[in-house]
Amino acid sequence: MNNIKTVLVTGANGQLGQSLKSLQAAYPGQHFIFTDLEQLDLSDKKNIIEFSQHNAFDLIINCAAYTAVDKAESEPELANNINHLAVKYLAEMAQQQNAKFIHISTDYVFNGQQHRPYTEKDEVQPQSVYGLTKLKGEQALLQSMPQNALIIRTSWLYSEFANNFVKTMGKLGHERDALNVIFDQVGTPTYARDLAQAIMNIVTSNSFDQANFITETYHYSNEGVCSWYDFAKTIFELTGLQCDVNPIETVDYPTPAARPHYSVLNKTKIKQAFDITIPYWKDSLQQCLMVLQEKE
Ligand SMILES: NC(=O)c1ccc[n+]([C@@H]2O[C@H](COP(=O)([O-])OP(=O)(O)OC[C@H]3O[C@@H](n4cnc5c(N)ncnc54)[C@H](OP(=O)(O)O)[C@@H]3O)[C@@H](O)[C@H]2O)c1
Repeated sequence: MNNIKTVLVTGANGQLGQSLKSLQAAYPGQHFIFTDLEQLDLSDKKNIIEFSQHNAFDLIINCAAYTAVDKAESEPELANNINHLAVKYLAEMAQQQNAKFIHISTDYVFNGQQHRPYTEKDEVQPQSVYGLTKLKGEQALLQSMPQNALIIRTSWLYSEFANNFVKTMGKLGHERDALNVIFDQVGTPTYARDLAQAIMNIVTSNSFDQANFITETYHYSNEGVCSWYDFAKTIFELTGLQCDVNPIETVDYPTPAARPHYSVLNKTKIKQAFDITIPYWKDSLQQCLMVLQEKE
């Protein structure tokens, strides 16, 4: 019998939020409250306090975030409000309600100079406002909730929902004969549905159901490694779109925010703690492309 009955999911219209929504029918033992900007604007503390006064829950899954990595460089205050301060206030709300907390963070907390997959113990050194605000959110959660919370860092999320690299490539592949794509940033694409399924498995696991556990950070991405160039090439191979992909260097595609050159995540800890099997990124990409094709 699982004690997690009512689950608040923020960022419900985002990729991960919608992926969780698509799985909820398989979990009739849990009642989900999905919120996005209209129901609960996280940029303002008073909204969070007010929401807490009218809603009770046993778990918060915080999928909401300011995810516009480049725009964050010119909107640091708003990014900080959502990625950092809101996490603190949500954690305080969870504490008051004796609720647990699952928070999603990012590979962009690392500087990307390493040559082996990052573990949860590796030093953090964000290169961007987005990465810094996400790191501050992690730190605020660890401080406010030393027990009963999980931080899951993920990377290169894509899905059939919202905007992402796979959908952008699909669109551009129809419009153009050739594209330039960066080959010197290496990481692992993650299908949001796989992450959502992993979260559901964790929520319904015995170890998560324990009365009190120490708050820990975990890494989750799909298995394998690729560059954005390889990712684009594979999308075109699997969809049959005739579009050449030219490999370019990061210096040839300047962006306001710096990105890590290498941000592969080591997932041993989450796999062992929750007995999770993680799909290979190309297999998951194929799954997502099939879903997208069905939607067309
Ligand atoms: N996308 C990636 O490649 C990636 C990589 C690593 C980690 N992550 C992390 O994974 C998590 C999920 O990412 P995602 O790709 O699902 O993000 P997403 O698609 O951008 O969704 C984020 C959601 O947060 C909502 N939001 C923004 N500002 C808000 C506010 N003030 N109050 C309430 N909600 C607000 C957005 O609403 P609107 O749509 O109305 O703006 C959106 O629905 C985030 O924590 C992100 O940092 C993402």
